[in-house]
Amino acid sequence: MEILARGDFVEELALYGGTPVRTEPWVSKYLGSEELGPEEKDRVLNVLEKKRIFRYFPQGLEQSETSLLEQEYKEFIGTNHALAVNSGTSALICALIASGVGPGDEVIIPAYTWVATAAAVAIVGAIPILAEIDDSLTIDPTDLIKRITPRTKAVIVVHMRGISADMDPIMSIASKHNIMVIEDAAQSNGGTYKGRMLGSIGHLGCFSLQQSKVITTGEGGMIVTNSEELWQRAVLYHDGAGYQFRFIERKIPAFPGQNYRLTELQAALSLGQLKRMPAILGHTKKTKKDLVELLRARNNITFSSVFGTERDLGISLIFYTSNQEQARFMTKALSAEGIPTFQVYDSNSNDQHIYLNWEFLMRKQDPWGGSLPWNNNPSQDIIEYNEKTCPKTVELLSRAVQIHLNHFVTKEDVKDVIFAVDKVSAFLER
Ligand SMILES: Cc1ncc(COP(=O)(O)O)c(C=O)c1O
Repeated sequence: MEILARGDFVEELALYGGTPVRTEPWVSKYLGSEELGPEEKDRVLNVLEKKRIFRYFPQGLEQSETSLLEQEYKEFIGTNHALAVNSGTSALICALIASGVGPGDEVIIPAYTWVATAAAVAIVGAIPILAEIDDSLTIDPTDLIKRITPRTKAVIVVHMRGISADMDPIMSIASKHNIMVIEDAAQSNGGTYKGRMLGSIGHLGCFSLQQSKVITTGEGGMIVTNSEELWQRAVLYHDGAGYQFRFIERKIPAFPGQNYRLTELQAALSLGQLKRMPAILGHTKKTKKDLVELLRARNNITFSSVFGTERDLGISLIFYTSNQEQARFMTKALSAEGIPTFQVYDSNSNDQHIYLNWEFLMRKQDPWGGSLPWNNNPSQDIIEYNEKTCPKTVELLSRAVQIHLNHFVTKEDVKDVIFAVDKVSAFLER
């Protein structure tokens, strides 16, 4: 493309040698970890001083940092039970096992999520069945219905990039077909849907506390549920000896478990962060609402109707361009203007948020050189994964453009984004 001459009505793009909209760095993608300070330091040092770094000493079990963290979560999400684990992935695995999912079952997941959602399903011996997302970036309820078979045991609903999935239709479809609903709120901790906390709407809710999440303990996870039986099953799976310590009355038969326990140091690091969440998210939601309101009228880009609403935590700005080439150009041009921008799906990249890049799934490979669970499928159906499995998702994400937001985005930063988008749009309209 030619370089615009100075004095043209369109300002020269930084991509072609013009002056960038900003030169100071853009905000980082981290939220809770940016807030780590003296309070966390004291909490962690306190654990070291107590010399209790393992949770399950029988003495003082209820006062352990991990128990207190679970207590905070139960209150925050409003469920009867919470279980702290060592990652969001292990939270999903425990939730699937708790739901009774295993060999011969199918679990529906969206085609756009972190690879761990798919891996968790295959690890428990069930077959991941992919469903399309809609422009909210979350599972499309109309496509979910189409993917249900007599073997569907559960659906993992992912609240992606801070956006809540449309839980009302999903819950009614699931109840009609007797399907368990696991909410994967790894990327949307603190979010709500029609006033209800995410994680409390399905049968089980799973969170990640890894560093790029809203609040963090470096690595960690949490499961919430209102069902005592599901909670007991998750407890037993997260710790094969779980029933020794956790239950006043065991209501489930024994089965082998893993070790997905959280350490006291990690729990201490996270304790107290939930209190900061409303301030962090209050800021991100307001910024996002402003951005979406200001940008919605712009040519060349569109938004989902749920962006900037209650269903959006505001932790990233995503908009749609008209095609893949335009998204690629916007990504390069906005980044050159000083606002790091990403194409949500670029066929040249290996980003693990889209099913086409989940190599084990596309090739149906297990860790032992075989093809479990796919070759243990009680139905005669051959399950294949390719570009035709979820074409709408691929098309939508290849024209989607993303900018990280956090709670440090200022009014000036918002103005820079608007100006940069306008600048690039004007160039595209020449
Ligand atoms: C949607 C989603 N599910 C699950 C996970 C897994 O969480 P973890 O990395 O804590 O295992 C992640 C983490 O990136 C995620 O984004």
